[in-house]
Amino acid sequence: MRRIAVCPGSFDPVTLGHLDIITRASKLFDKVIVLISRNAGKGEPSFTATERMLMIESVTHDLDNVVIDILDGLLADYVRNVGAIAIVKGLRAVSDFEYEFQMALANKKLYAGAETVFLTTSAENMYLSSSVVKQIASFGGDISHFVPSAILDDITQRITNTDKSFLK
Ligand code: PNS
Repeated sequence: MRRIAVCPGSFDPVTLGHLDIITRASKLFDKVIVLISRNAGKGEPSFTATERMLMIESVTHDLDNVVIDILDGLLADYVRNVGAIAIVKGLRAVSDFEYEFQMALANKKLYAGAETVFLTTSAENMYLSSSVVKQIASFGGDISHFVPSAILDDITQRITNTDKSFLK
């Protein structure tokens, strides 16, 4: 039996923290599907789903058992449809836990055939999130320590080109 895991997230954009979790998950499972999903609590994303997919593709192409997909629906339905046995998420801090615990329980209720597996974030990525990256980039800060080098220019250009003037 092939053991399939789904690694869902907004990935808006993908960070070194995400890449660390995806890489470690790829060693635990036969196949990992990185699933770009909609987080209803987060509002409009900064990057389109296709842009996010291309960025993740360019930083995971050396991981043979990792594929990328886009979902505009319920995670639990997707997990059931592809026959995955696990949902893999990264946990940074205690502050992540309550929200992640709630999602894990809800997903288990919707589809009991998969377990949510939490991987602890590597220490150097504890503080890292897509929104921190976007905020630093939007003020011209250096994000090279936070995102994979292959997509650094794409992210920087895109974020700095976004109109952020609040003095208008
Ligand atoms: O990276 P994020 O934003 O923390 O990821 C959250 C995400 C996208 C995985 C979550 O919002 C999700 O699963 N969205 C898909 C829709 C869904 O199934 N929602 C109910 C989750 S209990």
